[in-house]
Order: sequence, then C-alpha cells, then structure tokens
Amino acid sequence: MTASEKSDALRRRKNGPPISALTAYDYATARLIDEAGVDLLLVGDSLGMVVLGFPDTTHVTLDHMLHHIAAVARAKPNALVIGDLPIHTYDTPTQAVTTAKQLVAAGAEAVKLEGGVSEAEKIRAIVDAGIPVCGHLGMLPQSVLIEGGYRKKGKTAEQAELLYQDSKAIIEAGVFAIVFESVASETAKDLTTRLDVPIIGIGCGTGNCDGEVAVITDLIGSFPWFVPPFARPEADVAKSIQSAVRSYIDRISQKR
Ligand code: KIV
Repeated sequence: MTASEKSDALRRRKNGPPISALTAYDYATARLIDEAGVDLLLVGDSLGMVVLGFPDTTHVTLDHMLHHIAAVARAKPNALVIGDLPIHTYDTPTQAVTTAKQLVAAGAEAVKLEGGVSEAEKIRAIVDAGIPVCGHLGMLPQSVLIEGGYRKKGKTAEQAELLYQDSKAIIEAGVFAIVFESVASETAKDLTTRLDVPIIGIGCGTGNCDGEVAVITDLIGSFPWFVPPFARPEADVAKSIQSAVRSYIDRISQKR
C-alpha cells in the first residue's frame, strides 16, 4: 500500500475498530512491534527523552529524527510510519514542506506536527505537497519551556472550545488524524464524537478516543526513571535487562 492509501485507510477507521499506535525509534523494535500487528508506528520526538537522554523534546534536531526514521523504515513495516517534525523545523510553511520532504526521503510515510490554528497554513502546504499529516493537540511537549511545565488540557469549557476550534482548523487544512495528548477524559470523549477524523489519545483515559498511542518504553517498562501516571506497563524490561546483566557478570566472574 502507498502512504496515502495507508493514511486514507486509517482515516476511514473513524467509526471502526480502535487504532493501535506505538512509538519506535530503531530497526529491531520497529520490526517486533510491526510483526505484532500495530496499525501505526510513530517515530516521535519523545526519542529525545527516552533514547537520547535529553530532559525534554526541545533538544531534538532534524538530524536525530532522520537517523531514527531511517532505522525504523529499514524494518519495512506494514504499519504506517509517521515521523515527528522537530521543534523549529516548521516555523514557516516553506520550511515545513522542506522538512517534511526530508523526513519522507528518510523513510517516513506521513509526518506529525504540534499545534492548531497557528499551524493550519503549514499543514495545508505539506498536504498540498502530497504528504499525509497527523495533527497533535492538547498538551504540546514542544511548548514545555514556554508553558513552564506539562499541563492537562481541556479541563474547562473554555479550553474545550479552544481545542475544538484548533481541531476544526487543522482538519480543514487536511490532517488525516489527530493525536490528543493529556486531554481531560470527558472533553476527549466529547470531541472524538464531534470531529470528523480519528482522534488518537494518549493520557486521555481508555476508550474515549478512536485509538490510542503509547510510548514504547512506557508499555514495556524499559525507562523506569520516569513513568507517566497514565502509563500501563505490560512488561518490566528494565528488570529483565538488569537481571540478565547480573547473571552475565556472575557467570564470567566464576571462570577465574
Ligand atoms: O513524541 C511522541 O512520542 C509523541 C507521542 C507522545 C504521541 O508525540
């Protein structure tokens, strides 16, 4: 399937089976996740925190993203591969198109960017260049320094209305889906029923959106130093790694 066939198929899942999405940053993990049957693989700029060791996503560069998108693409996933546009690589419509094309050249099939009304023109420009775009609203990690922290969104009627207006603007601009991050459950549920494209939630409660996305390290428990309150780990890979390393050290220590 081509990139636009895959993104169109996801768009049509609005009232169908829930969309499953996970982040991936390397070949092996992407291949494992894809073989397990996920719908969408996001090379998110969470890369900066859970792989590269930065305090937040504002340190992620275009080169970082290109390197990891290429690794994920080498897994030749059936799932749609979405790459995040890193901060300050889409400050104007022209720059947004140039960056999106670079992500596609590296192996992304679609791109994701953060923001609403203010980003609509850039989204339109990327879509017009033939590249599918996924929106990202609610809590915007690239704005953490401006906002002074990570705050839940959509908690008041006013915030919910803002979120609705932002969603309408980017749907009009052509997004095929929107990630809602840390949006109050009731608002996420209400907007999901009112908006025309699939809403993929993270930190919005279970079953409130058309699908869910999780950061792979939260799902498999491989980044124990920070676990978001909404994470539901299904494995304890950190423990398995440390136990394997201790067994290895014990084994080679007994040889002398
Ligand atoms: O960068 C990322 O992993 C994301 C998800 C949190 C949706 O944008």
